[in-house]
Amino acid sequence: MVADSKSAQRPTKPAVGSAAGASGEVSAGSRYHEDYARAEREPLAFWGEVAGGIDWMRSAATVFDPSAGPYGRWFSGAVCNTCYNAVDRHVERGRGAQPAIIYDSPVTGSKRVISYAGLLAEVRILASVLREMGVSKGDRVVIYMPMVPEAVFAMLACARLGAIHSVVFGGFAANELATRLEDAEPKVVLAASCGVEPQRVVPYKPLLDEALTLTSVKPSACLILQRPQAEAKLVKGRDFDWAAMTDKARAAEKGADCVPVAATDPLYILYTSGTTGRPKGVVRDNGGYMAALLWSMKALYGIEPGEVFWTASDVGWVVGHSYIVYAPLIFGATSLLYEGKPVGTPDAGAFWRVIAEHSVKALFTAPTALRAIKKEDPDGELLKRYDLKGFRTLFLAGERADPATIQWAEKLLGVPVIDHWWQTETGWCICGNPVGLGQLPVKYGSTGVPMPGYRLDALDEAGKPVPTGTMGSIAIKLPLPPGCLPTLWQADERFRESYLADFPGYYRSGDAGFIDEDGYVFVMGRTDDIINVAGHRLSTGGIEEVIAAHQDVAECAVIGVRDEIKGEVPCGFIVLKRGVERSPADIEREIIALVREKIGPVAAFKAAVTVGRLPKTRSGKILRGTMKKIADHDSWTMPATIEDAGALDEVAAALGGRDGA
Ligand code: COA
Ligand code: AMP
Repeated sequence: MVADSKSAQRPTKPAVGSAAGASGEVSAGSRYHEDYARAEREPLAFWGEVAGGIDWMRSAATVFDPSAGPYGRWFSGAVCNTCYNAVDRHVERGRGAQPAIIYDSPVTGSKRVISYAGLLAEVRILASVLREMGVSKGDRVVIYMPMVPEAVFAMLACARLGAIHSVVFGGFAANELATRLEDAEPKVVLAASCGVEPQRVVPYKPLLDEALTLTSVKPSACLILQRPQAEAKLVKGRDFDWAAMTDKARAAEKGADCVPVAATDPLYILYTSGTTGRPKGVVRDNGGYMAALLWSMKALYGIEPGEVFWTASDVGWVVGHSYIVYAPLIFGATSLLYEGKPVGTPDAGAFWRVIAEHSVKALFTAPTALRAIKKEDPDGELLKRYDLKGFRTLFLAGERADPATIQWAEKLLGVPVIDHWWQTETGWCICGNPVGLGQLPVKYGSTGVPMPGYRLDALDEAGKPVPTGTMGSIAIKLPLPPGCLPTLWQADERFRESYLADFPGYYRSGDAGFIDEDGYVFVMGRTDDIINVAGHRLSTGGIEEVIAAHQDVAECAVIGVRDEIKGEVPCGFIVLKRGVERSPADIEREIIALVREKIGPVAAFKAAVTVGRLPKTRSGKILRGTMKKIADHDSWTMPATIEDAGALDEVAAALGGRDGA
């Protein structure tokens, strides 16, 4: 990592992998350049053709309407239903018996295969239950569920009715759930009684109950999936039992048909960390999203309909929305739904077991998962138990993939390991290596080349493109391609301010990096206070808001500190109020518990350090960058603008070492 960040300042020509470790061949004749150029030259023709693979109820009046929304809208005038494209059409065209979802849950010891016909039956029934609860087109439905098939049914049932789902990741606490409920104002909430983590069962229902007391939003009903690991108490008149309601609808032979929606209507809202504790409601439309996902399955991931695609993420994240649920299903592939971890369920061979057992062709996961496996089984002893001969490609995203981890995986698996760069906002990959068009050489440390429709520049602070190979803010020229967010939920102005205002004509990605002479993009880190913890995106500002609310805290700063497995973990520096005489260690413990209670275990907030003062510039800006360097044991220099040099020494001492000058 140290080497990586140095190369960020003075990029040298990066190492080029054979990429082959692997499949052997790097295609000399990739169609990538041709397709990328065509999408740039004739975007309407390019995306219009891609959209030919979608079943529209009415075709678009125009492939792109520049006058609508903050920067334009894709497929304006078209009418469609995303659930129809993901489910019904495959049954109508002979894929009814093919597995749509393979559920493999080592944490509960269960497995289940759901065919496309089975999926259709489940989704029709659940949609009819939701309809009877009053859910109709445009209504919001919050889904707070773990990795169980019912979570997928729930998302698709909403899509079927034209309702807008908003999935909240199970690792978030009641407070975070409440913020999302407040913003989305759901008519109905769908939840499970609990999630199952390797070491413990996490009751979700008490978190939902608490969240509902923290918000003025009152859904008319909550549908609760009871899991045997921890059954929930239902609130009379508000909570309904999932199994009882769906059984009743089944017995009455009910079932809801697909409701036509505009291609530009929202399919879902997915909240993601912004720079404050108030998350941003990323809106995803129906039409553009379907088109982008459809293109990506073949061209980017090299998958054929009927093959098994596995995204080891969570339905609560964007990667789960796009590549556990919508893309594989729209494409007619089989999606693997895994409720487990890369290690400990039961061992570091779990991923290889799943690939072998279910004939997975491509796996998409976060580098952190590989680092966890590598730590436990560096020589791949557990891999020897399994036959992975049908496995073709490993894709990584969610955080920076360090070259050492990529090379370790290439060597171990003998397949191409492809890093690609994404954001919740874009819904699909910005830069990657489209193996389906003919793989390009892998450059270690790079997230590959821009996908069709993404026109990137690295910009200086004035918004001018910087020379090739120089670090800048990576920005995407407007319009964004199909699939990307058209706006934030009921917040066009916040969308403009957050993403479009800094660099006119561009979308500001919030990531910094450089583009090399071959057009490869190197994403090196964020330009804001977002950190990536085990592939989970968190706002240090949001954590600071929680800490600052503690009665004894005068001020605080949270930084992301390098971590061998999780990439980064948050570390909080606290200054206590004058006159506080309690033990700092007690207060630190309370603060750690507070962050867990308010944000959730997923924040992995385990380090709070009390200091006498925070290092600041003379204008009062906290020197987070230097603090991070000290914590990461990188070399650092005393900033000329520092107000009080002793404050940095104190940080270094608190962190137990000072390696810098
Ligand atoms: N519901 C409730 N709690 C959850 C949860 C969920 N859905 N997911 C995670 N948690 C909890 C965990 O139990 C853990 O709690 P703990 O502090 O009591 O141990 C905490 O949140 C942190 O979880 P996690 O980030 O999963 O860390 P871990 O230490 O349990 O496991 C890895 C480490 C690397 C194995 C794991 O982070 C991993 O597989 N990451 C992949 C990330 C990923 O898929 N990202 C999506 C982008 S592609
Ligand atoms: P999320 O919205 O949770 O998907 O997080 C998006 C952020 O994760 C990006 O803005 C990047 O900072 C980071 N990220 C995602 N993929 C990569 C990658 N392949 N390389 C480097 N950073 C990445």
